Amino acid sequence: QLDQRTIDIVKSTVPVLAEHGEAITKRFYQLLFENHPELKHVFNQANQKMDKQPKALANAVYAAAQYIDQLEVILPAVKQIAHKHRSLNIKPEQYPIVGENLLAAIKDVLGDAATDDIIEAWGKAYTVIADVFIQVEQDMYQEVAHKNGGWLDYRDFKITHKIQESDVITSFYLSPVDQGTLPDYKAGQYITIKVNIPGSDYTQLRQYSLSDAPGKPYFRISVKREDEQNDKPAGVVSNYLHHSINVGDTLPISAPAGDFTLQESDQPLVLISGGVGLTPLVSMLHDSLQKQPDRPVYFIHAAQNGSVHAMKEHLTNLQEEYVNAQVYTCYSNPTVEDQQTNYHQLEGFVNLPWLQSILPSNEAAFYFCGPEGFMKNVNQMLTEWQVSPESINYEFFGPQGSLEVS
Ligand code: HEM
Repeated sequence: QLDQRTIDIVKSTVPVLAEHGEAITKRFYQLLFENHPELKHVFNQANQKMDKQPKALANAVYAAAQYIDQLEVILPAVKQIAHKHRSLNIKPEQYPIVGENLLAAIKDVLGDAATDDIIEAWGKAYTVIADVFIQVEQDMYQEVAHKNGGWLDYRDFKITHKIQESDVITSFYLSPVDQGTLPDYKAGQYITIKVNIPGSDYTQLRQYSLSDAPGKPYFRISVKREDEQNDKPAGVVSNYLHHSINVGDTLPISAPAGDFTLQESDQPLVLISGGVGLTPLVSMLHDSLQKQPDRPVYFIHAAQNGSVHAMKEHLTNLQEEYVNAQVYTCYSNPTVEDQQTNYHQLEGFVNLPWLQSILPSNEAAFYFCGPEGFMKNVNQMLTEWQVSPESINYEFFGPQGSLEVS
């Protein structure tokens, strides 16, 4: 338990730290990787270059500090992060390392303004915050270790099928090399894969949503090849998977994790995806049709055009197989060939009048996933339609972003 003085100091200095947030975070990662180069194998070095993840970790520490005397408020956020940490195999003994380097970075950036009192208070607060994460993560490790078919750390999987789903998305079917049982998981969860790309200095860890329904004798991920684009470099791992990983190859994988999961309910289910954001939602679609065949499901997908529209035949055919499945697609930029086919129902972007025209009402469970701009739009539409906040569920790719419209 923290004394009141410590709580006061921490709360009153949160705005100062947040103001210097970026400088502190940059310095933190510099120090962290200088002092512990082995952590370069753990943190996504591409996100480091894009400066995204750096903000996520530090912001989470400040957010936690703001609620230092009522940490239960931020428990849902802790759980979401803890799922990712568990999937990355983050260990209790790594917390003090992050703490030491964060404090050192605060000292470096704030200079004389960081008095001994302030540093001491933040040191204590960090320990309390870290203990909450460590405890939540320990429970998750226990759970996965005791689950039928579950495992700790990484398990080797062999690629049994590699299927091209569109010009940019390819599915990989994965079966455990040990031929043992696979654990049940929740539709919407993801796994971490570990790759050692020849010529690369670091091991790369990446999360991919499982894209097929739970209960199959294999796992499936569907990966978008990230090509170079304006200021964004090509995706190292996605290109490696597309070009160099083939049937028969082996990948180490951690057990399914994540809290963006399908909840059973009698409300209609509305799944809205942009681009490769469809992967967790395809899993939910199949899971719902299998487990609750009477529940109406609307699968709404936005893609640029037919050439990048993944699994289009399969998804369209589902409507014939299941009376309760309705599949709608929007192409923002259809090609001439697209005009000859009936894979899309809307040209342009998903918009509220159109959503209202295809859905019976705003009383439904909404799940969405896609690029940040798409997510903001969908969230704004649902808010405008007065969808109840408890019915809105979403997941970002990569580091947690913000849905606030700036
Ligand atoms: C991801 C917070 C400690 C390693 C994240 C994310 C947040 C976060 C907010 C992004 C979650 C997301 O993408 O959804 C924190 C906080 C910590 C802490 C508040 C301390 C109290 C640690 C420790 C390690 C670690 C001790 C291991 C040395 C990672 C890694 C990622 C991550 C590798 C994935 C993103 C990437 O690879 O860049 N953490 N974290 N974190 N965290 Fe932590």
